[in-house]
Amino acid sequence: MSLFDLARGALFRLDAESAHAATVQMMRRMPRLSASLMRAQADLPRTCMGLQFRNPVGVAAGLDKNGECINALAAMGFGFVEVGTVTPLPQAGNPRPRMFRLTEHEAVINRLGFNNKGVEYLCRQVEQARRDCVLGINIGKNATTPNERASDDYLHCLQRVYPLADYITINISSPNTKNLRDLQQGDALAGLLEALVTKRDLLAVEHACRVPLAVKLAPDMSAEQIDASAAIIAQTGLDAVIATNTTLARDKVEGHRYAEQAGGLSGKPLCALSQRCFEQLRAALPSHIPMIGVGGIHDRESARQRFAAGAALVQVYTGFVYHGPDLIESATQGADDAARASRA
Ligand SMILES: Cc1cc2nc3c(=O)[nH]c(=O)nc-3n(C[C@H](O)[C@H](O)[C@H](O)COP(=O)(O)O)c2cc1C
Repeated sequence: MSLFDLARGALFRLDAESAHAATVQMMRRMPRLSASLMRAQADLPRTCMGLQFRNPVGVAAGLDKNGECINALAAMGFGFVEVGTVTPLPQAGNPRPRMFRLTEHEAVINRLGFNNKGVEYLCRQVEQARRDCVLGINIGKNATTPNERASDDYLHCLQRVYPLADYITINISSPNTKNLRDLQQGDALAGLLEALVTKRDLLAVEHACRVPLAVKLAPDMSAEQIDASAAIIAQTGLDAVIATNTTLARDKVEGHRYAEQAGGLSGKPLCALSQRCFEQLRAALPSHIPMIGVGGIHDRESARQRFAAGAALVQVYTGFVYHGPDLIESATQGADDAARASRA
C-alpha cells in the first residue's frame, strides 16, 4: 500500500471539505512529504501560450484557491499549477455543508461559491513561493458584485496578479456564483473579454512582459452557444481556452444519495460530457488558439482522448483526489500515447 493510499484512507473518513482543508495544510507545512509522494518524474516538455511546461499535466483551479501549497504541488511533479479562483475581496462562500464526495462514482459535487482569502493574500503567498513550475492565476468576481459591474472585479484582479502570473484565467463558468455563467454569452462576453484584453495590452507595455489570457468555460452550453462564444473568443484575441468547469447535469449519478445536492459535479461522470464540449469548441475555434482540457480525466486513456482531441495541456482535480500523484504519470503517458499515434 502506498503512502497516498494510507493518507487517502484517513482523509476519506473526514467530510469532503475537512479532508480538503487538511490536505492543503499538510502540503503547505510539509512540501518535502509531497515530493516523497512523487512516484516517477513525468517529463514530457511542451510549449503552449509561449510558455515552457516540463509536462502537460496541471492542477486545475479550486484545489489551491489561495496559493498556499504551490511548492508542494510542483514537487509532486505537476507541469503547472493554477491557483484561485481569487476575488478582489475575501469572501466566505456558501454555507456548509457545500462539498460532497460520491466515492462510488469517483466524483465530487461542490457549491463552495468562490470561498477565498482575497487577491492581496493570494499575491503574498505567490510572492513567497519557489517558482519551479508554470503558475496560472484564476480570477473571478465577488458574489456581491452585480454582473453589470463584473468587469471592475476582473480588471482589479488582472492588474494585481499580472506581475506574478505566467498566465491568467478568466473564470466565468462556476455554477456557484449567481448568474456568473451569463457572462459566457453574447455582449456580456464580448464586453468583458475586450476590456480585459485592452487592459492586458497596456500592462504588457508597462511591465515589458505579455502575460497570456485564457478563458474557462462550462460544459453545459448548447452547440449553438458554443459556436457563438467561440466566435467572440476568436475575435477578441484571447490566448487560450480552458474547457471545462463542473456540470449541473446529474444523469450519470442518478439515484446517489448526494445526486440532488446543488452545485457542480466533477470527476469521472463529467468525463464524456467534458470531452464532447471540448471537441465542439476545438472544432469551432481557430487552430492557433490552444485549448487546455479539464473535466473527468481519471486515467491514461481519458487523458489520451483529450490530447487526441487537440488538447495542448490538461488539468486534473477530482481524479487527483481519488488517484493521487500517480495520475500525473498516467496522464502524461496518455499525452505521449496521443502524440505517438498522431505521428504514426
Ligand atoms: C471542490 C472544487 C472546487 C473548485 N473550485 C474552482 C474554482 O475556484 N475555480 C475554477 O475555475 N474551477 C474550480 N473547480 C473546477 C475544476 O477546476 C475543474 O474544472 C472541474 O472540477 C473539472 O475537473 P475534474 O473533473 O478533474 O475535477 C472546482 C472543482 C472542485 C471539485
